[in-house]
Amino acid sequence: VRAELSSGPLSGRRIVVTSGPTHEPIDPVRYIANRSSGAQGTAIARALAALGAEVVFVTGPADVPPPEGVEVVQVQTARQMLEAVEAALPADAAVFAAAVADWRVSSESGSKIKKQPGGVLPVMEFAENPDILAGVSQMKEGRPGLVVGFAAETDDVLAHATAKRARKGCDWIVANDVSPATGIMGGTENAVVLISDAGAEEWPRMGKDEVARRLATKISGALAG
Ligand code: CTP
Ligand code: CA
Repeated sequence: VRAELSSGPLSGRRIVVTSGPTHEPIDPVRYIANRSSGAQGTAIARALAALGAEVVFVTGPADVPPPEGVEVVQVQTARQMLEAVEAALPADAAVFAAAVADWRVSSESGSKIKKQPGGVLPVMEFAENPDILAGVSQMKEGRPGLVVGFAAETDDVLAHATAKRARKGCDWIVANDVSPATGIMGGTENAVVLISDAGAEEWPRMGKDEVARRLATKISGALAG
């Protein structure tokens, strides 16, 4: 019903957005995760929907509630997120704002791992999670026309993000500096650089909602052109 009623420059466009962290269980009480409130991904989904897009919002366990007016798919792990993204395709565009855990433990324990006497430490083996952004960027058939990745970096942000864009094969990378000194992690503002074929475009520091609106407008322009 929503798709039929919606109007705006993105009406009739289907866009998949990933957001939030993933949680990779170690045992029933512990997990591995990245730091992510889900605020930026949620704002992007909201901004895309406001422009009339049909949004599938695939989210890990985020701190902020999902936006209204989008299809919400809640997942825990990277593998579930991949499955949900694949199920949501085909789409006109995909925006990967999730902070996906790079690793999971190779065998999750069904029972709680107990502390051992004498300070004996547990040994954990890790497995690498699927790279959802790279997988979708490199699809041979049915690839979304526009694939947008994120890169939260420290140190040489531009160099890391430019290399990441090439490695993944996505069209755009939204890069930001998450060094503790910037205060961006967990805050309401963001300062990003948009990297595309056209080069690097530095946006001034602004609210995450404003970043989201600008990005949605850019996406709308790219899909129209
Ligand atoms: N991403 C993904 N699936 C993964 C890891 C990352 O879809 N398993 C996506 C993120 O949502 C983001 C982009 O890839 O859009 C970059 O994530 P990042 O963690 O910066 O990239 P990595 O390749 O994991 O590199 P790093 O070693 O810097 O963590
Ligand atoms: Ca990573």
